Amino acid sequence: MPDANLRFPPGFLWGAATAAYQIEGAAREDGRTPSIWDTFSHTPGKVLGGDTGDVACDHYHRWREDVRLLADLGLKAYRFSVSWPRVQPTGRGPAVRRGLDFYRALVDELLAHGITPMVTLYHWDLPQELESALPGGGPAGGGWPERDTAERFAEYAGIVAGALGDRVELWTTLNEPWCSAFLGYGSGVHAPGRTDPAAALRAAHHLNLAHGLGARALRAALPARARIGVSLNPSAVRPLTSSPADLDARRRIDALANRVFTGPMLRGAYDDDLLADTARVTDWAFVRDGDLDVTRQPLDFLGINYYSPAVVSAASPSGAPRHDGHGGSDHSPWPGADSLVSFHRAPGELTAMDWPVDPTGLKDLLLEYTAQAPGVPLYVTENGAAYDDKPEGGAVHDPDRVRYLHGHLSAVHAAIREGADVRGYFLWSLMDNFEWAYGYSKRFGAVYVDYETQRRTPKSSARWYAKVAASGELPQAVAEG
Ligand code: FCB
Repeated sequence: MPDANLRFPPGFLWGAATAAYQIEGAAREDGRTPSIWDTFSHTPGKVLGGDTGDVACDHYHRWREDVRLLADLGLKAYRFSVSWPRVQPTGRGPAVRRGLDFYRALVDELLAHGITPMVTLYHWDLPQELESALPGGGPAGGGWPERDTAERFAEYAGIVAGALGDRVELWTTLNEPWCSAFLGYGSGVHAPGRTDPAAALRAAHHLNLAHGLGARALRAALPARARIGVSLNPSAVRPLTSSPADLDARRRIDALANRVFTGPMLRGAYDDDLLADTARVTDWAFVRDGDLDVTRQPLDFLGINYYSPAVVSAASPSGAPRHDGHGGSDHSPWPGADSLVSFHRAPGELTAMDWPVDPTGLKDLLLEYTAQAPGVPLYVTENGAAYDDKPEGGAVHDPDRVRYLHGHLSAVHAAIREGADVRGYFLWSLMDNFEWAYGYSKRFGAVYVDYETQRRTPKSSARWYAKVAASGELPQAVAEG
């Protein structure tokens, strides 16, 4: 039946995702204090156009309208993150009730519309106080390179679980710890903007620890029906050729992009090759006895965020541009590998981020993680694309995004057919928002946001996705229009 639609399993969760700093705004309201992203975005030269999340999509005030958008699109699930400095302003001590009330009301509104909430505890907005003021942090700062931040995260996880645990079943601890560690402390293109390779590796370990301690705190506070996972952004990393040197470059990047998290989280170990490759950067003495039992917590699901694959080779003559999708800094986010590996542009059309479109990377990852974490269900917790969308006559026509989504949903379907237990898909993003170092210049939304008026307009991709979600079926071909 070559023309039959691709049918997804019954109960497949069709959702959309956002993150607190990218949409909420209200940066100084109701007791919220600055996060590292407030500080970073207010530092000249760090974010394109000097954009900040001060107002963003004003979701803190427009959340009812935004839930209505999800409901009008017929989506079954919504992944959002809780702003740590909104609920525990200094990153320690008592919670702020108004902050928690906001998320309680949001969740109630979602549930009233039959939308399943998925809560992400940490989507990069560390309370600034934890970055600046840790005992022993000194002028270099505290933050994730310091062990105490992991302990603080566990306390915060317990607070949020206490407030939302009676109504939220799906929980993820961290979003993309790779970005927090290696873009935040290695290349410095993300907050807090530090460029210290050893600090980046320390941060990675303390994020692993935070995940483990946080998952434990969630387990202790949540009812048995709660499902606890983590959202990683594994790199679908491919060698340029099959030469031994290029295969070794692939191995190195797989270690630094993927196994640095999946080792501790899934297997309770850092692989020997990772430790050897980074030995000139750090001796890993910050890993204490027992840590790797903490980092390996039983997981109810794994979240996979995917945008684009990576292609690597042994280093070509220096000065070659680094096509790893994380440019914008002379500092490398790859400690110990920067002079040894070159990144090449993967084939495929480019999105507005200059990220190549290649859905096979998503299928490969879903199958690979099925093998690596047998019996652990998967969710695609982010996938989507930025394009230069422009309203015309009150409508926004974005056929490129429809094609992107069609290709990637076909890949999810193919992975399911080949045995991956994928339970849901969250489109990044529900609406255009603050795209980190790119500010508002990149639009990932299914819904267009006019930042002058805060008017939301569903793009044609939103209507297309709504149809797929309503029917649970993907047409074989992309319908024009
Ligand atoms: C991911 C982030 C998300 C969004 C997309 C485009 O790395 O988790 O917040 O910015 O990229």
